[in-house]
Amino acid sequence: MNILKILSASIIIAFVIASCHKMDNSNNAVAKNVVEQTFDNLIAIPTVMDATKAAFTAKSKSAIIEGVSMNTLSYGGAAILGPTLKIQQGDVMKLEFKNELSEPTNIHWHGLEAPASQDGYPTEVTQAGSSFSYNFPIKDRPGTYWYHPHPDMATASQAYRGLAGFFIVSSPEEKALKLPEGNFDIPLVFQDKRLTNGLNYNPNSDDQTIGLFGETILVNGTPGAKLEVSTGTYRLRLLNGSNARIYNFSLTNGMSFKLIGSDGGLLDEAIDINTLLLAPGERADVLVSFKGMAVGSEIFIESQPFSGSTSQGSQAFKIMKFKVTNTISDEFMFPSKLMAVQKIPESSSVATRKFNIGHMMLHGGMGGVMHPIDGKTFDANRRDEVVKAGSVEIWEFDNTTGSEIHPMHLHGLQFQVLKRTGGRNSIQPWEKGWKDTVLAFPDEKVRIIIRFPANKGKFVFHCHNLEHEDAGMMLNFEIQ
Ligand code: C2O
Ligand code: CU
Ligand code: CU
Repeated sequence: MNILKILSASIIIAFVIASCHKMDNSNNAVAKNVVEQTFDNLIAIPTVMDATKAAFTAKSKSAIIEGVSMNTLSYGGAAILGPTLKIQQGDVMKLEFKNELSEPTNIHWHGLEAPASQDGYPTEVTQAGSSFSYNFPIKDRPGTYWYHPHPDMATASQAYRGLAGFFIVSSPEEKALKLPEGNFDIPLVFQDKRLTNGLNYNPNSDDQTIGLFGETILVNGTPGAKLEVSTGTYRLRLLNGSNARIYNFSLTNGMSFKLIGSDGGLLDEAIDINTLLLAPGERADVLVSFKGMAVGSEIFIESQPFSGSTSQGSQAFKIMKFKVTNTISDEFMFPSKLMAVQKIPESSSVATRKFNIGHMMLHGGMGGVMHPIDGKTFDANRRDEVVKAGSVEIWEFDNTTGSEIHPMHLHGLQFQVLKRTGGRNSIQPWEKGWKDTVLAFPDEKVRIIIRFPANKGKFVFHCHNLEHEDAGMMLNFEIQ
């Protein structure tokens, strides 16, 4: 046997071992623990920009976070995080975007039915120094969407360093529900950062395997965040904008969340829940009432331990604080019905596709691990799946042989979750509405049903653990 054969034989053996076992021996990396802050920093609220006539520039900045000066990337002014773009359903969004970074970038409209040419396909980028005009009609239901960069192999790095923002759609139908608005409608994005590294993005091989975890949780870019509240009812739009960390949100004082919305907008009706598990990319709208509480009361959002993962979930930690500072009379009435979620009938499905997301491949001797989908990693020149515009299909993500958590996300559409077998064995309350990202724990098989939109062209679907995505856990689907 020549040296090449020996080499390729050992790579094959490594692949076989990696695929058959749960990799407990070669992958025992665990998430960095969170260090709780003192929660006395007033939370930043991103500025609002009208999405029908928006303009901003991506550029590098420097910021002082917790007394340490660091380099960040910025969309339009703030040190980290872009403006909250707001629009009415049916209006046309327009953004004049300029790239003043020193690297190529693009913008992906996470959750929106964007045309393929404007959806931030990984190899369609705006070069450093160039501009791009986004311009497309917003067909999506009222709800909480977001935007972030999506260049091939640099999504994690750019999002981590500060590029992300909310995209909020509303409508007259939603307005008629009289949900909390103005100062009572608060977007909250949760991101863990390794501030000891400045905000530089330098993943090591463990990070590339399980994802990059930081010790400090920022909410809207604020570490140790505090929000001063009145004794009213708030609509909180929760977005997990972290690279890899999952939060199992709960409230102190025995309070519960009234869950009203998921990734793709409002649910049929509100559901009372005590914990809410969101993986990277996922959103949930909740109502929280501070009615009757004494001025000075403090309530925390925490994350509770969860099972199902070997790499994260063992720690409970506080994330942010609400401090009651003002008494008002709260007239808010919980609407009994929200907005109809039309179920896609299973009988309308014309095809079922199954994807094995449980394999790992050793990264050619570099120490890290790659996570293929059906044995393949991203290739922009391949057409992995071809589907018909307007057709309905069932897709299944199978993580039964896997040892890691994979939040699977499809671009350019919203789907519904049909079934989860193994692991948690059920559909979670926040999976009862429209979704664009669905979490599969090890041992789980998750089925979703999709009606492909009319926008033709090539889109991607991928794991929203951003380190997994950048290492190629992403395939193409083409709508014809
Ligand atoms: Cu928010 Cu392709 O992702
Ligand atoms: Cu997306
Ligand atoms: Cu993954």
